[in-house]
Amino acid sequence: SGAYQAHFRVWRGDADGGALRDFEVEVHEGEVVLDIIHRLQATQAPDLAVRWNCKAGKCGSCSAEINGRPRLMCMTRMSVFGRAETITVTPMRTFPVLRDLVTDVSFNYTKAREIPAFMPPAELGPGEYRMKQEDVNRSQEFRKCIECFLCQNTCHVVRDHEENKGAFAGPRFLMRIAELDMHPLDAAPAGGVDRKRTAQDEHGLGYCNITKCCTEVCPENIKITDNALIPLKERTADRKYDPLVWLGNKIRRR
Ligand code: SF4
Ligand code: F3S
Ligand code: FES
Repeated sequence: SGAYQAHFRVWRGDADGGALRDFEVEVHEGEVVLDIIHRLQATQAPDLAVRWNCKAGKCGSCSAEINGRPRLMCMTRMSVFGRAETITVTPMRTFPVLRDLVTDVSFNYTKAREIPAFMPPAELGPGEYRMKQEDVNRSQEFRKCIECFLCQNTCHVVRDHEENKGAFAGPRFLMRIAELDMHPLDAAPAGGVDRKRTAQDEHGLGYCNITKCCTEVCPENIKITDNALIPLKERTADRKYDPLVWLGNKIRRR
């Protein structure tokens, strides 16, 4: 019951170009945008390229732009649109198109590789790590990230500025640095990796002017700006401009 025909406009093409195509597709009660894209594939456009895995908002594969808003297709209910509305589905704009709704997100893997991993403290063996619950809770929020890259796609620093991509890690990876920098057991500083300095000098923290667009699109509702980027900026500023704090940090580390 309640089935109807929805008007879909879907971008089709590849790296050489493409166009929006119009389709009428059947919709059933309780369906999400990804269901309709799958029905479109099954009935009218068998070669339509779309990336997905879980259909449960957990794999981060089905990111796209729906009526211009970056969202997960599997978590966007059809009931949020009017039945007469045209629903436009386009690939993420910040990454190069491979085909149809599938983009090449390797920018993000490059950025991930540029950040040195957590370094365990040399003096502790497995089973000897101890952390305060409040420190565990803090990083727990960041670890909910499903790597959908919607925040990376949305941030205006790179969205229409290809030239900034080399110098800017993007919200997801600045958040990763913030998480490691807050980690009480991270031994990177003792190992010669100054996470605060590299956040500024190598990963472009200064490009972020805290517009919070990244936070608004995060399907995991992670407070990227308030809980990761702003605290990282504050601690980085302390380090850079306050010689006393800087000296204090040095002494405490010995
Ligand atoms: Fe997606 Fe949120 Fe992770 Fe960004 S922080 S990649 S929006 S889950
Ligand atoms: Fe970009 Fe988020 Fe900063 S959108 S500018 S990384 S607050
Ligand atoms: Fe896994 Fe949408 S299919 S998040």
